[in-house]
Amino acid sequence: CGIVGYTGKRRVVPVLMEGLKRLEYRGYDSAGVVYLLDGNLVRYRCQGKLSGLETVVEAVLGVGSHTGLGHTRWATHGAPTEQNAHPHTDCSGRLVVVHNGIIENYHSLREELREKGHVFTSETDTEVLAHLIEQHLHDDLAEAVKTALRRVEGSYAIGVMSADHPGILVAARNHSPLVLGVDEDGSSFMASDIPALLPYTKQVIFLNDEEMAVLTDGGRRLYSLASGREIEREISVIDWSAAMAEKAGYKHFMLKEIFEQPQAITNTVRGRINLETGEVVLPEITLGEEDLRAIERIYLVACGTSWHAALVAKYWIEKYAAIPVEVDIASEFRYRSLLVNERVLTLAISQSGETADTLAGIRRAARLGSKVITICNVVGSTMTREADGTIYTHAGPEIGVASTKAFIAQLAALFLFTLYLSQLKRSIPVEHRRRLGQHLIDSARVVQELLPKIREQIGTMIESFYQCRDFLFVGRGLNYPIALEGALKLKEISYIHAEGYAAGELKHGPIALIDKDMPVLAITPKDSVYQKTISNIEEIKARQGRLILIGTEGDTQLEKITEDVIYLPAVHEDLNPIIYTIPAQLLSYEIAVRRGCDVDQPRNLAKSVTVE
Ligand code: G6P
Repeated sequence: CGIVGYTGKRRVVPVLMEGLKRLEYRGYDSAGVVYLLDGNLVRYRCQGKLSGLETVVEAVLGVGSHTGLGHTRWATHGAPTEQNAHPHTDCSGRLVVVHNGIIENYHSLREELREKGHVFTSETDTEVLAHLIEQHLHDDLAEAVKTALRRVEGSYAIGVMSADHPGILVAARNHSPLVLGVDEDGSSFMASDIPALLPYTKQVIFLNDEEMAVLTDGGRRLYSLASGREIEREISVIDWSAAMAEKAGYKHFMLKEIFEQPQAITNTVRGRINLETGEVVLPEITLGEEDLRAIERIYLVACGTSWHAALVAKYWIEKYAAIPVEVDIASEFRYRSLLVNERVLTLAISQSGETADTLAGIRRAARLGSKVITICNVVGSTMTREADGTIYTHAGPEIGVASTKAFIAQLAALFLFTLYLSQLKRSIPVEHRRRLGQHLIDSARVVQELLPKIREQIGTMIESFYQCRDFLFVGRGLNYPIALEGALKLKEISYIHAEGYAAGELKHGPIALIDKDMPVLAITPKDSVYQKTISNIEEIKARQGRLILIGTEGDTQLEKITEDVIYLPAVHEDLNPIIYTIPAQLLSYEIAVRRGCDVDQPRNLAKSVTVE
């Protein structure tokens, strides 16, 4: 879900709507706003996308209200109806709450409040919060929020306002992201993520877990929820611009972000490899070199697309740094038994730095004694603040729900980290590392050149594939995770059932699916397992599968197998995942557009999943 709040001198409704628009990627089942006018709360809510709410509030954009809250929802408890949309009120209708997270003990709290006479109008856990705060509210709103939150188990980022406390917003967080914005004129913002603040300010304050803030037109105060004491916190300055979170003439954020990938690689690698000496510098890793040299095993932990980046990195780290690597889906990692000590490194990979499962995973690993590093795209996000070091991917804000440029930047950062480990471990010669660094840097130019050509070719190719119901993606070695990523991209945005397989695994089951109606995209570069992949492709062809091959320029053998061949330039074989991801992304994008799907906001998904 996405939260936005403002109190200050501006008219509040446009600020809330602009903020929500920039947070819509976090959830788009329903949306709502509330503001204070003439001593009363005025609330609008709407089922469905933000555009519905936009129509409803059009007439009130100019109202002279200066304090309000907004919310865009990704449903957890209660269907995505108007009644369940936030903001939620208490019995009096004079207090409202917006919330992101899950209140785990909401059943028992609701029963308790019902017995005290509270009447509930929604199925949500959030409404319980409004009533609980009402129960404790005497004069001081902040005090009531603090007392209520002591009863709450679960995760929350909340914004609270009351008609009887004009000009005040209370914000609090525990295990869900919340950031405050500070305007030159003293106005205050709150938001789930930075893009909502970018049109107004780049000065932000990150709230930590179990902290609360009281915002007024004149400023803001932070408190610890546990001790009640006031806290001092520095203002951080964000170097993203508002334009970076806009479409810049592209039809979709996803397409824009695919085309930003060369820049994402360059920005992520810049200044971190010395191409004369072969030295990799990652000063952000605050762990001592001795600690890192002592690492005997690495857990890579991530969700979704970031998990696919982890799968690629396993091949790289084991090959060049000779450290055994285990790759875990974070929702499994956080609950399975872990063999961890201080010689184990847990490396979390997360675009947002807020994904609940990944965050819980690194917390658990750290508690058990593991060192923790994170690879992350969002400066100041929770994971970066908890790890023993962060390697930032400098991809810029990613808005499209399906991750593209963040993935490519993660690959670049992971390759860098591999080279860094090889340097500490002296596992490969300096000259070898220098050349690999050069190949990584060069990959940006290769991607830049192939993007327009491949897009054009795929645009014509999809006519014969866009109506299919199933799709297989296959690859071997480093490109097996890319097959998984290709399948994920296609299912996320086009709703076609797709699966990724290690090409050699086909014969153990999935080959039974192959017939003339089953498209199979095979990643077939001229690499060290080329002949093996070709054998698997022949098996598919023999069963009339409809093959799309992506291979290396000049490989005429592929054209003899199928007419649908996409050729990519030859690069160092270990960097193929970066290059071969591009056609898979574009194929998914073009198919989804051709099917009329909502590419940037696919159904049922959210970009940042801050609940379990
Ligand atoms: C969601 C997004 C995916 C993303 C995953 C992990 O499911 O829709 O695109 O890969 O979360 O997100 P993270 O921010 O941790 O990389």
